[in-house]
Amino acid sequence: MRLLITGGLGLLGKEIEQVFDRSAGIRTTDREEWDVTDPAACRREVDGFRPDVVIHCAAYTAVDRAESEAAFANLLNVEGTRNVARACRERGALMVTFGTDYIFDGASSRPYREEDPANPLSVYGKTKWAAEQALREEGGDHLLVRAQWMFGPAGKNFIRTILEKARRGETLRVASDQVGCPTFSRDLAGAVRKLLEAGARGTVHFSSEGETSWFGLARHVLERCGLPTGSLFAAKTRDLPYPAPRPAYGVLSKEKYRAITGVSPRPWEEAVGEYLEMIDPEGGAR
Ligand SMILES: NC(=O)c1ccc[n+]([C@@H]2O[C@H](COP(=O)([O-])OP(=O)(O)OC[C@H]3O[C@@H](n4cnc5c(N)ncnc54)[C@H](OP(=O)(O)O)[C@@H]3O)[C@@H](O)[C@H]2O)c1
Repeated sequence: MRLLITGGLGLLGKEIEQVFDRSAGIRTTDREEWDVTDPAACRREVDGFRPDVVIHCAAYTAVDRAESEAAFANLLNVEGTRNVARACRERGALMVTFGTDYIFDGASSRPYREEDPANPLSVYGKTKWAAEQALREEGGDHLLVRAQWMFGPAGKNFIRTILEKARRGETLRVASDQVGCPTFSRDLAGAVRKLLEAGARGTVHFSSEGETSWFGLARHVLERCGLPTGSLFAAKTRDLPYPAPRPAYGVLSKEKYRAITGVSPRPWEEAVGEYLEMIDPEGGAR
């Protein structure tokens, strides 16, 4: 399987590259090599490499900044996705790309299923929902994997930020009224591989198993690393200074993923533990 990756230097892009067999050929691109907002560049890349599968990881992911950069977020997420989808359809390549729980409004009382209605609250969520629609409108062969609360070795993430702030002795006020499930980028990359091996198409949800709040995750991380929790406080979202509204409940149902692949994701505590061992081997993470 020849594989072409966009956004290859991002949190997910870096992991995707690691989980596939390289013998048939993998080309990972960054923004310098392939700007997905340029339709001609999309055609040139797909024509040039002739992939069986394009894994489109490039995206605008700055959830709060998007509130004041809507046009740019839209260009990258919606038009970028449309450009890649069109080039894939024209060349008969399968397109794999990623969605988010932020397309939902958080009013559900059970984990969101793939067919549940979208009602995004934020600019980022709206661009990601519009990107899904652009992908479907293009009508090519595709797999869309919705995920949430991602962390991993590349770049910044909530867990790393919490650890750094705690070590500096800062007071931490963290939302206890947003519930979701932390997901290791490495696990998501592995899930993409399993889904492709199973011939999955359409929309599939993936995250770790279980659920927690951002506050619950922060407390878990500090306890696991042997750090004091006295400076960590539960806060209401409305009292925190984040511009983008977020769903109060965004847990994704993994029923379809399990039915397709025959495997269950691991619990989030296990995934977080593995990540902490990686980034903080001396820090008492057990
Ligand atoms: N992170 C999460 O919690 C999360 C949750 C659910 C779903 N997702 C989805 O998962 C996917 C991957 O997210 P991620 O967290 O890995 O994102 P990320 O770390 O922000 O990486 C995105 C990559 O896209 C690149 N990029 C930006 N503009 C580009 C352009 N015009 N052309 C080509 N590449 C460009 C970025 O390069 P620069 O660094 O040079 O800008 C970056 O390497 C996205 O679709 C995201 O919406 C993420």
